[in-house]
Amino acid sequence: MKQIKYKFNKLAFLIGVKIEFLKVHFFYLVNKNKAINNTIKINREYLSTIDKFLPLDVYLKNDYGVQKRIYDELEAEIPELVTYSDLMVFLINDLFKNNISYLEIGVSVLKNYLQINNGVRDSILVAYDINDVNPSFEDFENIKLNNNTLYYFKGSVLDVKDTSKFLDLYKNKFDFVFSDALHTPEAIRSEYEHIIKNILSDDFIIYYDDLDFDGLEKEFYEIKKDLESHKNKKINYYTFFVYGWIGSKEKLHKNGIITNIDFSAYLKERNIKIYGFEEVK
Ligand SMILES: C[S@@+](CC[C@H](N)C(=O)[O-])C[C@H]1O[C@@H](n2cnc3c(N)ncnc32)[C@H](O)[C@@H]1O
Repeated sequence: MKQIKYKFNKLAFLIGVKIEFLKVHFFYLVNKNKAINNTIKINREYLSTIDKFLPLDVYLKNDYGVQKRIYDELEAEIPELVTYSDLMVFLINDLFKNNISYLEIGVSVLKNYLQINNGVRDSILVAYDINDVNPSFEDFENIKLNNNTLYYFKGSVLDVKDTSKFLDLYKNKFDFVFSDALHTPEAIRSEYEHIIKNILSDDFIIYYDDLDFDGLEKEFYEIKKDLESHKNKKINYYTFFVYGWIGSKEKLHKNGIITNIDFSAYLKERNIKIYGFEEVK
C-alpha cells in the first residue's frame, strides 16, 4: 500500500512538472524576451563545459545542501527557459552595466556563482556559506574570469561572530545580494539584520529564492517594510516564477526581489515578461 502511494505521488509530481513546463514554454513562445535569450545561451554553453560539479565521494561526506534527486540532475541539460541564474546574469549586465559588488549567501557547489562569474565582468563576487568551498573549484585565482575578483567566506548566517567577521572583512557596499542559504524565516531575518541591512549600495537588488517555503513570504514582506524605514525611502517588492538550478526537472521556484529600483517600469521599458510576475503593493 505504502509503495503504491509513493508511486502515485511520484507520478502526480511528474505530471504536474510536465504541465507546468508546457505552460511556461507557451508563455515564452508568446513573450519572446529577445534581450534575455542571449544570456540564456551563454549560461547553457558554460554549463555544458562542466563535467561534474561535485564528485560522488565528496558528496557522500558532505552534501552541500543538495538533495540526492537534485545532485543526480546537476549536470543535466536545461531547456532554454529562464532560470534564476539567467535572470541574475542578465540583470547585472543590463541594469548595473557590470562592475558590481555581488554577494551570494549560500553557494553550495557554486553552480549559480560560477555562471555569474562567467556572465559578468570587472566585478567583485563574494560567496558566503557554512561549508568549505567545493574542492572541485577551490582555486579561485584559477577559476576567475572576465577580470572578476572572487572571495569565499566560510560562516553561518545564524552566528553573529561570523556575520561580524564578514562585515569587518568586506567593507564595500553590495549592489546585488542573492539570499539562498537556509530557507527559514529566522535565517532570512538573521542574515538581513546582521549582514544585508548594513551593506547595501544606493541602488540595490536583494534577490530571494524559494519564497513558497513556509513563512518566507511573510518575512520577506517584513524585511521590505523594515528596509523602507531604515533607508527612509520607498522600497519595492516583486515576486515571480522561474526555474531553479536543475531547470524543468523540478517545479518552478517562487522568487522575489526587494529593491529601490522601479522594476515594473524597467521590465516594461525593456519589453521583458517574466512568468507569474507580480508587483506586491
Ligand atoms: C540551496 S543551496 C545554495 C544554492 C546556490 N545558491 C546555487 O544556486 O547554486 C543552500 C546553501 O546554503 C548553505 N547553508 C545552510 N545553512 C547555512 C547557514 N546557517 N549559513 C550559511 N550557509 C548555510 C548550505 O551549505 C548550502 O550550500
